Amino acid sequence: MPGALNPFVWDRPVDDPSKIVGMEAFANQVALILKGQTNVALFGPRDTGKTTFINQLALELARAHGDDAPPFDVVKVNLQRVVSLPGFIGCVHDAMVGHPEKRMRRAAQRQIGALEKEIGFDIRVIKGTVRSAAAAPAQDAETLHAQLMALRSLSAHLVVVFDEFQRLRHCPGDPLAIIRSALMSSGANHVSLLFTGSIRNALQMMLERSDEPIFGEAAQLQLPEISRVDFLEYLEFQFQATGRPADEDALEYLLSATGAHPRSTQQLAWECWQTTAVGARVTLGSVIAAHERLVQSIERSEFAAVLNVLMGGDESEINEVRALQLVADRGGATVTSRAVATLYGFSSHSRVPAALERLRRRGLVDRRERTWYIVDPLFAEWLRRASPLVDRPVSVADPD
Ligand SMILES: Nc1ncnc2c1ncn2[C@@H]1O[C@H](COP(=O)(O)OP(=O)(O)OP(=O)(O)O)[C@@H](O)[C@H]1O
Ligand SMILES: [Mg+2]
Repeated sequence: MPGALNPFVWDRPVDDPSKIVGMEAFANQVALILKGQTNVALFGPRDTGKTTFINQLALELARAHGDDAPPFDVVKVNLQRVVSLPGFIGCVHDAMVGHPEKRMRRAAQRQIGALEKEIGFDIRVIKGTVRSAAAAPAQDAETLHAQLMALRSLSAHLVVVFDEFQRLRHCPGDPLAIIRSALMSSGANHVSLLFTGSIRNALQMMLERSDEPIFGEAAQLQLPEISRVDFLEYLEFQFQATGRPADEDALEYLLSATGAHPRSTQQLAWECWQTTAVGARVTLGSVIAAHERLVQSIERSEFAAVLNVLMGGDESEINEVRALQLVADRGGATVTSRAVATLYGFSSHSRVPAALERLRRRGLVDRRERTWYIVDPLFAEWLRRASPLVDRPVSVADPD
């Protein structure tokens, strides 16, 4: 029966390679850089597909690219929730023993078993145990080092991915130095590293920190956008293949509403699919209605929660709210106009850029070709709709 399952994924990274849109060429490019023994730092705003890309990249790395670029193994370490060395150790442990490939999983189990014998305890207990405060930090550093040494011995051609690497900046115990010593020293020539991060400045600061310029050699790349036509073809195909063909104007509207932002596009497609019966068409009207529902759902989302926290904050946080509203209403090309800044309640137009920088560190806004924009298109639309200032012209008498 066609179309039993909703083909659109928006609540987790995409791992089915047939559902990853538009990343083949970039995966090939990054794989060749990594196989050429250069580390890569990959930047991409939240929800734009970094983790999904890593899945595509792993497939590409597993291919042979000629005699000097044999297949590589990949270990993906997810640092999403790491705020301490024991947390880091736990994540590396999970990445090793939970490796999707049996051969790697077995090798990891063997290595970890040997390591535990050496250090005299079970690595998993680190995750849950509180040890004497004095001994713990030095011991954790040593354990992490030994564990990364075990990791590097898993394969003769290895890429280690640190997803959400920027999280380590809040991790005490100098994890960067430990990574450097274990994975970037002379014995680790067979290992290349990929760091991903959603906050460009944070990632760059870590890469270039002068007291530890360890990633000076890393190629810094930006995750490419999924092109609108690639997404259009994908949506058209998936709706059709699951028994809900979509009208052209419906698909055009869908992509305009989301600006082809990866997660939002999939979420809106998912919503449209969900409300269309098998055999029925996806029409412009149904896309508009689905978009409406999603914009309203922002009211109960993390975005609204963050906005409430900012609203209750000090002057600099209120300025962030002002800056968000300003960019939502007027776009991000003329953010330093005095007249506009006054309209939004800034005490001085010179405060706008700093507020935008803080919002960028929160992952809420970003900048493309000198223009600021709100990363999530549904959030942007929700802000616009509630704005009392959206249509207010700026007085020509105001100096600029
Ligand atoms: N190449 C792609 N093809 C199709 N959809 C994609 C692609 N990349 C991302 N998506 C969509 O975006 C969503 C988020 O992707 P993913 O989790 O990989 O992003 P991320 O950048 O790692 O996010 P985060 O910053 O939250 O970790 C996916 O659930 C999917 O809906
Ligand atoms: Mg991710």
